[in-house]
Amino acid sequence: MKTNVIMNGSALEHLKELPEESINMCMTSPPYWALRDYGVDGQLGLEKTFDEYITKLCDIFDGVKRALKKEGTCWVNLGDTYYGSGKGAGGDISNSKEVWGFENKEKKNCEHCAKEFEGYAFQRFCGSACSGVDNTPREKKGELKDKCLTMIPMRFAIEMVNRGWILRNVIIWYKPNAMPSSVKDRFTVDFEYIFFFSKQKKYYFNEQREEKKDTWGGRWGKMPKGNRPNAMIGRKEMTKEEFAQKYQDRNKRTVWSLPTKSFSEAHFAVYPEELCETPLKAGCPKFNCVKCGSPKELEIEREQARRETALAETGRLKTEAQADLQRVNSEVEAKVAEANSGFTQRV
Ligand SMILES: C[S@@+](CC[C@H](N)C(=O)[O-])C[C@H]1O[C@@H](n2cnc3c(N)ncnc32)[C@H](O)[C@@H]1O
Ligand SMILES: [Zn+2]
Ligand SMILES: [Zn+2]
Repeated sequence: MKTNVIMNGSALEHLKELPEESINMCMTSPPYWALRDYGVDGQLGLEKTFDEYITKLCDIFDGVKRALKKEGTCWVNLGDTYYGSGKGAGGDISNSKEVWGFENKEKKNCEHCAKEFEGYAFQRFCGSACSGVDNTPREKKGELKDKCLTMIPMRFAIEMVNRGWILRNVIIWYKPNAMPSSVKDRFTVDFEYIFFFSKQKKYYFNEQREEKKDTWGGRWGKMPKGNRPNAMIGRKEMTKEEFAQKYQDRNKRTVWSLPTKSFSEAHFAVYPEELCETPLKAGCPKFNCVKCGSPKELEIEREQARRETALAETGRLKTEAQADLQRVNSEVEAKVAEANSGFTQRV
């Protein structure tokens, strides 16, 4: 299998070219639903309904699952959007360019006034004035009320686990420099989701540590005397490293604070490289078995388990053999006793 290759094209199609169970991990951020036009044929995100989008997206991840090793993991960055809003989709929107930021409309006739207009497939009326005649509630049409969060990330996660993935973490990518918004009737959203899935219960995961800031934030040398954490009192022998291990280092938490960055020459929606760093470090083994492709650590673990079972089996055999021996011994003893008793009787 070739490595360090960029395959430019449909994810669904290219995934079929990857050998089955051949990759260690997958990290991706697919286009969000109805947010923008990336200008490529067959692109994801311009589906008429969010259900269709979720199905198409999860079909791609079925392909990822096929290519992923048994011990592999899959990390997906997704954000949510408000239905019918500037960043969302749905509703009978005629000013799509302003609202959605792209145009992907077809010519059709208004179902009320028969006027020809350009609109998305779900649009039935030429404009808001005409849409007034449609009394079908949006919920009945499978639509949400405007301003409601579309809950794409949740719908996606649920469909993924329905298709057999194991959801191990929901990670919050917190953006401390998130764009201020002008909304007055809710809070400004400053995070996105990263879903961490595994294929099976046992998977490769290299534990990641992070600084533990809340216990002791200052420098070691500047720590006030007589103000040391309990465990430190009378324990001068504790080294800097031991202290760090105990007070400044811990298993990485699920809220990751990472500022977004702008890349003047790249497309929009570029994510900061640091966002991929942790998943890559956690999900990619340094060494893989040349024969079966398993990560070295899991191979060693399996070998140990195999040896333990073998030992346990030897132990069990020994126990059984001992029991046999005991049984034979007591039978022999009984026979001897019988013989003896017979002999005794005869005498
Ligand atoms: C949110 S962006 C990902 C950006 C990426 N995380 C980065 O930092 O550069 C989504 C990307 O998916 C691409 N895309 C859309 N539909 C696709 C499809 N069906 N197959 C493969 N890529 C697709 C878009 O062209 C766009 O580049
Ligand atoms: Zn009309
Ligand atoms: Zn192997």
